[in-house]
Amino acid sequence: MKGSIGAFATCDHAMASAILSDSKRFGSFAVAKHKPIDTTVHDDEGRRLIVPMDDSFLAMDPPDHTRLRRMVAPWFSPRAIRQRTETIEAMLEEILDELGRRGGGWDAVNDLSVRVPIRVIAAFFGIGEDNYEDFRRWGGIIGTSVDGIRTMSDLRDFRQMLIEMRDFFDDLIAKRTKDPGDDLVSFMVQAAPDGEPLTGDEMIATCGVLLGAGFETTVNLIGNCILTVLGHEDVRQRLLADPELIPGAVEEVLRWDAPVQYLLRVTTESVTMAGVDIPADAPVFVVVAGANRDPRVFGDDAAELDITRPNSRKHLTFGDGIHLCVGAGLARIEAAATLRVLLRKFPDLQLADGAQRRPTRVVRGMTTLPVRQPVAG
Ligand code: HEM
Repeated sequence: MKGSIGAFATCDHAMASAILSDSKRFGSFAVAKHKPIDTTVHDDEGRRLIVPMDDSFLAMDPPDHTRLRRMVAPWFSPRAIRQRTETIEAMLEEILDELGRRGGGWDAVNDLSVRVPIRVIAAFFGIGEDNYEDFRRWGGIIGTSVDGIRTMSDLRDFRQMLIEMRDFFDDLIAKRTKDPGDDLVSFMVQAAPDGEPLTGDEMIATCGVLLGAGFETTVNLIGNCILTVLGHEDVRQRLLADPELIPGAVEEVLRWDAPVQYLLRVTTESVTMAGVDIPADAPVFVVVAGANRDPRVFGDDAAELDITRPNSRKHLTFGDGIHLCVGAGLARIEAAATLRVLLRKFPDLQLADGAQRRPTRVVRGMTTLPVRQPVAG
């Protein structure tokens, strides 16, 4: 644990896990009570705008966190996810067949990785293709905003996105209230697990956080998996020879090239850790990417990629404690299915020139990853 000018950070796996598991003393950065000013946002008509990462259960403490998380949890149960696997693979077949027909080259991020989570998340809301473009744009803006909004133009885009999102979900909730289907929104408008129905704002925040937390993260996981496999010929050959190794390879990419690099907490009281006194209200950076390479957990070769590492799954890329990612199982399935179908259809796919990394700090991955099929003969 290191501290200077009031900020603290750790790369130590045990300490990172302890901090994430102690939501009483290390609160979510977004929890309103930790904020120096009221950041509630309204539109020009005075309508409250919902900021998904701040207003959802991601930023709440129990009992509200428990009540709202319980509402979505059944949609992410192992059984529910198993049922989705076939649909996800069928969708990938379709996307990759289309890319194959194009021949030549394509972009593994923009033509493939982004299309997977957007369709999966849209299916939760029972909506189709018409909204993919908006979802993709909103998910991208939310994903970038976790680094902090730095320019006026970013702020304008963010506010505009909140207005569009509020309009969209208000409308969707009204539709599903009148004519329920078998989607998550219909479930939320009908269900009240402990007798207290969800408010409209809570439903919008819940839908928003699924999009905000489940889109960019998964896009970058899939992109990082493709980059790792195409960039390491030995890994490609092992996965081609034995596709059963794919889930382990995804787990190792989650550890070794984490799509979420760090998480932020704020102390709710003064805490002493590893001999360091941390005052109340101090920001504490939990550097997941560092903890994922802690030799005390992953051994002296922690910095190396090893797709058969027995304990890759101890990574902290999905967080820990009460906020442990609810979509972890789904993200794993999406990434594994992508590698499975991609390697089956394009065993010789190659990286092409022009790959670019994202400039963001929290989310790590590629903005573009050109690939090409080798020319026959
Ligand atoms: C929470 C990472 C995919 C929904 C989290 C947290 C992390 C994380 C680190 C905890 C944040 C914190 O403690 O401050 C990731 C990564 C993903 C991924 C790396 C993909 C590779 C998904 C997907 C969904 C999702 C696919 C849903 C569609 C959520 C939600 C929470 C969350 C709702 C809040 C959980 C709570 O507060 O109880 N995620 N996530 N995530 N994630 Fe994910």
